[in-house]
Amino acid sequence: MDNRPIGFLDSGVGGLTAVKAALQLLPQESTVFIGDQARLPYGPRPIQQVQTFTKQLVQFLVKRDVKVIVIACNTATAAALTWVRQQFTLPIFGVIAAGSRQAVALTKQQQIGLIATQGTIASKAYEREIQQLAPQVTVQGLATPEFVTLVEQGQYHDAQILQQVQKILSPLTKLDLDTLILGCTHFPLLQPTIQQVMGASVQLVDAGAQTVQELQRFLVQEQLQADPDSPVSHHYYTTGQPDSLQGIAQEWLEETNLVVKEVDLGA
Ligand code: SIN
Repeated sequence: MDNRPIGFLDSGVGGLTAVKAALQLLPQESTVFIGDQARLPYGPRPIQQVQTFTKQLVQFLVKRDVKVIVIACNTATAAALTWVRQQFTLPIFGVIAAGSRQAVALTKQQQIGLIATQGTIASKAYEREIQQLAPQVTVQGLATPEFVTLVEQGQYHDAQILQQVQKILSPLTKLDLDTLILGCTHFPLLQPTIQQVMGASVQLVDAGAQTVQELQRFLVQEQLQADPDSPVSHHYYTTGQPDSLQGIAQEWLEETNLVVKEVDLGA
């Protein structure tokens, strides 16, 4: 048993989609979340910069004595997962491996769609992962950084974004896909609109939620689960203005008393 919290990090609010999966699947676990909203978006940034930022967020979580970290950001996973793992001894999960495994398990057409930031698409991290799992499967990637902005601005449930989403996804709707990876943790907030545009026959893969399922198995295997009788706490931090994260977090996590604190990483 280990009652220490699970740490989640992201460039912004997107990592809350993985936190939500954890709250549902691992209700006995405490969590600490940090979103680096002051430096969002990570998608267009150079790899070295994303590595530096990710390391700072990992250090912040390590100082809060977390037992395991989920890099709940595809861009940071692609740029920095291997690199930060070499520098810390605690287990660190990315979101790309679990998302790839789920997509390969689901596709029947052996062709998977991927939407993500420019950084994740350019990294080819999903292609590499999927190639190892199933060399016959091809990946059709599309950078959709506009979706990060829609989510961060809290517009994800506005009816008028439908046309914009339709236009952005049109290169993929032409392809007759059966599986689409939401390769950015921000995108599950847009899931109903993306599903509407792609059609009911397209299975959407939430890479962050898949990662939490794998984390659940890991905690059991390593006997790192929290004692079900221990008190549970959830802490939320942002490097930006707490108000916007707090509004989205309260709504998305259905937790009206949730408070977000501002933190200065000293960078
Ligand atoms: C971004 O900061 O550009 C989004 C990061 C991600 O989840 O990939």
